[in-house]
Amino acid sequence: MAGAWAKLPDRECRAAIGVVLGTGLGAVADTVADQVAIAAADTGWLCRSTATGHAGRIVCGTLAGIPVAILQGRVHGYEGFAPEALGRGVELLAALGATTLLLTNASGGLRPDMRAGEVVIVSDHLDLVRRPWAEAIGGGASAVRPCATRLYDEALAADAIASAREAGLPARRGVYAFLSGPSYETRSEYRMLRAAGADVVGMSTVPEVVVAHRLGLRVVVCSVVTNVARPDAPDRTDAEDVCHMAASGAATVTAILHALATTHGLPRRTGGTPPA
Ligand code: HPA
Repeated sequence: MAGAWAKLPDRECRAAIGVVLGTGLGAVADTVADQVAIAAADTGWLCRSTATGHAGRIVCGTLAGIPVAILQGRVHGYEGFAPEALGRGVELLAALGATTLLLTNASGGLRPDMRAGEVVIVSDHLDLVRRPWAEAIGGGASAVRPCATRLYDEALAADAIASAREAGLPARRGVYAFLSGPSYETRSEYRMLRAAGADVVGMSTVPEVVVAHRLGLRVVVCSVVTNVARPDAPDRTDAEDVCHMAASGAATVTAILHALATTHGLPRRTGGTPPA
């Protein structure tokens, strides 16, 4: 990755907190002070997203005086990108100095009592795609990995829930099921995922979580429910609606990010291999 961020102004783009904003959540970056932004594709390292609601920019600045770097948008496997491309954004954020990472996405809610716009703080995931996400940052694809427990930082998750509730905004813990897409699920698939213990389903983020863990970053994931699966009274889900509904979770994500900057801005690592 050497020099991949050479086009980012060095002083302004050092970060303590890294953020990836998923579908329809780009406006969260508007709250950052002292902004410097460039197109992600201009780094020569990040790929250009073709997905709806992914601006493809890096925004650097400060929140509560803490330096942050925010990726507005990400790339997905269903766009045709190789597994190693999906973790590049996180590698870049780590290289900019981020030790704490907030990942966000849009998801389908699998619990009938969920409401569009509520936020699920991810406690664990079902990786139903299973590729060697962190292969590019060392170890090779052939090595069997130890069981990856504690991918999600408990303290950050508890703080995220508390800060959303303090702001009077809906949030709960839950398990994220990762599917490759690009189609939304069938009614039978929604039923299967619920029976398997998932609370929300989406098409991103897990590769970034795995790469972040390998790099020793503390990770918290906010998943905005954009549609609720009701297999027996199905609504049609499409990308425009998902994008629109995701924006209704932006206030909660913003509250969580600001609280994170206030309480967790100081660099801390959990271990793992820091980026070169
Ligand atoms: N399924 C998968 N991904 C999604 C959904 C869904 O229902 N909603 C938003 N992203």
